Amino acid sequence: MLTGNEIREKFLQYFERHGHTRVRSSPLLPANDPTLLFTNAGMNQFKDVFLGIEKREYGRACSSQKCLRAGGKHNDLDEVGKTARHQTFFEMLGNFSFGDYFKEDAIKFAWDFLVNELKMDSRRLWFTVFEGDDQVGPDEDAERFWAQVGAPRERILRFSGKDNFWQMGETGPCGPCSEIHYYLGDDPQDPTKNRVDLVNGPGDTTMEIWNLVFMQYNRIEIEPGKYKLEPLPKPSVDTGLGLERTAVIMQGVKSNYETDLLKPIIDFAAELAVGK
Ligand code: GLY
Repeated sequence: MLTGNEIREKFLQYFERHGHTRVRSSPLLPANDPTLLFTNAGMNQFKDVFLGIEKREYGRACSSQKCLRAGGKHNDLDEVGKTARHQTFFEMLGNFSFGDYFKEDAIKFAWDFLVNELKMDSRRLWFTVFEGDDQVGPDEDAERFWAQVGAPRERILRFSGKDNFWQMGETGPCGPCSEIHYYLGDDPQDPTKNRVDLVNGPGDTTMEIWNLVFMQYNRIEIEPGKYKLEPLPKPSVDTGLGLERTAVIMQGVKSNYETDLLKPIIDFAAELAVGK
């Protein structure tokens, strides 16, 4: 069994071995960004790098970012207590490319890390890609790259912008994304249990664990309430892997709150509550 700390370290070391610079989590209150109240993703601290406004010494980075999603564009507050996988405060593991690699390598890294490093059962993994809309076409490249690394075609599903087009807020860097979902049920080989309709569906049997965002656009407001997508200077990559959700899988439990990252806090609060 891997502890949460071991999973975090494995992730960061894996991406360091693949040329990424380890960057510290930024504070929960974003500096110099009036569009955001709290840090809601690992990419926040790199926003200006994606936009080409800021230059760094590295083209690849990885981090474990403290995030708070309790309002705004990404609001998990209403889900807490209803599902086993939502928190408002959580840690997001991420690898980033600033005009360096793009979709193909992002997908190769994600598959390799989950299947070969963490030894997740690939029969439990599902993959989603953007189905396209009137501005951006369907992500056939991502479909092809998933199939190339070994994902069965029938497990690569298309979804709309609600699930598969990521933006940090109303404005800013954004792009189509591809998510990895994990089936937590008892029999990965039973198609009546490990089912397509559970991906982005009800319940906790299948949960999203990792989102790979293919950053290609800057969403700007052209007049109040009207937005337009402008291409970024260089296609880039922003990913977010939920540490607590990954711990659920690696520790064989059913809820984020049963992992070693959160259970000791709950146990401590319970002890205080009964006055021990
Ligand atoms: N920035 C990727 C995510 O939050 O899912």
